[in-house]
Amino acid sequence: MLRNSSERYGLVAKTLHWLLAMLILSLIGIGYYMVGLTYFDRWYNAALAWHKALGITVLALAVAFIGWKASSIAPAYPASLSAWQRSAATGMHHLLILLMLVIPISGYVVSTSAGKAVGIFNWFEIPALLPVSDALRDAAIRVHFWAAYGVGVLAAGHAAAALKHHFIDKDGILKRML
Ligand code: HEM
Ligand code: HEM
Repeated sequence: MLRNSSERYGLVAKTLHWLLAMLILSLIGIGYYMVGLTYFDRWYNAALAWHKALGITVLALAVAFIGWKASSIAPAYPASLSAWQRSAATGMHHLLILLMLVIPISGYVVSTSAGKAVGIFNWFEIPALLPVSDALRDAAIRVHFWAAYGVGVLAAGHAAAALKHHFIDKDGILKRML
């Protein structure tokens, strides 16, 4: 039930998958909204604080997801999947996992590049560990921007593939993640 079987994902993998998916998609929305605000807008500080704390939550959940994946068996692909489909699915999953780490880490670098710690829900702070640097900040902003909108595009392709397997191929791939 909790663990994956050779036929389907277990509760832990499913919960982590859907939490990560919802948080990442919401953070793209909050990020897009927040960079359109000015410093004097009412929501500027609140949106940024929520964005950072939820973003660090993604980092923690992504580490848990990777640890769980490494210690679990993966449900086998249905026999109807061709070799290229298997490689494409596995490649896409690895890319999504890489971006789950790159996006929050680059966000941390943007936020701390002026020497300020990152507050997590008024609970604790993650200190700024890197040297204060405008060049580092500019590079991190570029990485954060492309990786965040890039994961949005990839997730849309990934979801489209899942829906195609469900409605057209009817091979049960979506059901085993639900
Ligand atoms: C999966 C997690 C995250 C996603 C999907 C995400 C997504 C985004 C997006 C879409 C933007 C707007 C980019 C633009 O249009 O210019 C943005 C901006 C920003 N994010 Fe994130 N973010 C995440 C995590 C984080 C974390 C953990 C932090 C900091 C601790 C952070 C700090 C920032 C900052 C400071 C900006 C504004 C950058 C600027 O001034 O251009 N983000 N984020
Ligand atoms: C930002 C959003 C998302 C991310 C980052 C993401 C990431 C991932 C990753 C890394 C896996 C591989 C799991 C593993 O190997 O342990 C996976 C599997 C899966 N995802 Fe997503 N996903 C997202 C959104 C969605 C959405 C919206 C859907 C459906 C409409 C979906 C459906 C699935 C399904 C069905 C699988 C299982 C595929 C299989 O059985 O091999 N995902 N996802």
